Amino acid sequence: MAQNQTDGDIYNPKFVCALFDEMSKTYDRVNTITSFGFNQRWRKKLVSELQIKQGDVVVDLMSGMGECWKHLLADPSATPEIIGVDFSREMVEKSRSKHSNELGPSLAVLHEDVLNNSLSHDVADFVISGFGLKTFDLEQTRMLASQVHRLLKPGGMFAFLEISVPSNRVLRAAYMFYLKHIIPVFGQLFLGNPDNYRMLGVYTSKFGSVKEVAPLFDEAGLETTCKRYFFGCATVIVGRKHCAPSS
Ligand SMILES: C[S@@+](CC[C@H](N)C(=O)[O-])C[C@H]1O[C@@H](n2cnc3c(N)ncnc32)[C@H](O)[C@@H]1O
Repeated sequence: MAQNQTDGDIYNPKFVCALFDEMSKTYDRVNTITSFGFNQRWRKKLVSELQIKQGDVVVDLMSGMGECWKHLLADPSATPEIIGVDFSREMVEKSRSKHSNELGPSLAVLHEDVLNNSLSHDVADFVISGFGLKTFDLEQTRMLASQVHRLLKPGGMFAFLEISVPSNRVLRAAYMFYLKHIIPVFGQLFLGNPDNYRMLGVYTSKFGSVKEVAPLFDEAGLETTCKRYFFGCATVIVGRKHCAPSS
């Protein structure tokens, strides 16, 4: 399905949604194997950027199959309430069936577009996202940043993780070759569509790193810091919504 897409099309929500509906069959396996476990380590580190306490509300945007949740639920003395949001029906259904034992008042998944979601203002102590930024163009990222601001309680924090283009020339060449040419082969080996997995390299090249999108989060009224994981192969934007001024 990912053949012959023009730049505009690749950010079209219908295209992105269909891409992940199709990739959902193999995403889990290909993702774990091709990242040599790094993706899991990075998600764990992402969660550790936030000091989540028992009963805090965490909104997981672009939640996929709930890949971040085991890290959110790892500490039994600090289990949050989790609300996942994803627009791929297949990803949402798989997240629900994989976590059927945990679904209930403390774990819910909304099958919605995050840019047009039904959650109320100031609902979240934390907003997180693993690998969900790259399929947004700049205008959509601006809208996403304003949703993060809307969803967070004053003083609440967010952290978004994304695969990125490292600044070191040698590492960049090797890593981008791997993303663009090797991962699609793995995708095919696991019976996925190699064209879909080729899109990972396409989106990552265009995305760059969280530094490129940080100003959009700043403009939305969020205080931000950018961090690099593993020499910039992944980057993280962490930030906070300002507390309401005391009157
Ligand atoms: C690369 S997967 C990431 C899944 C998971 N968070 C992880 O850590 O692996 C990106 C997910 O974002 C979802 N997504 C992309 N744009 C979206 C949007 N506008 N609204 C809701 N979900 C979206 C896709 O359906 C897909 O499940």
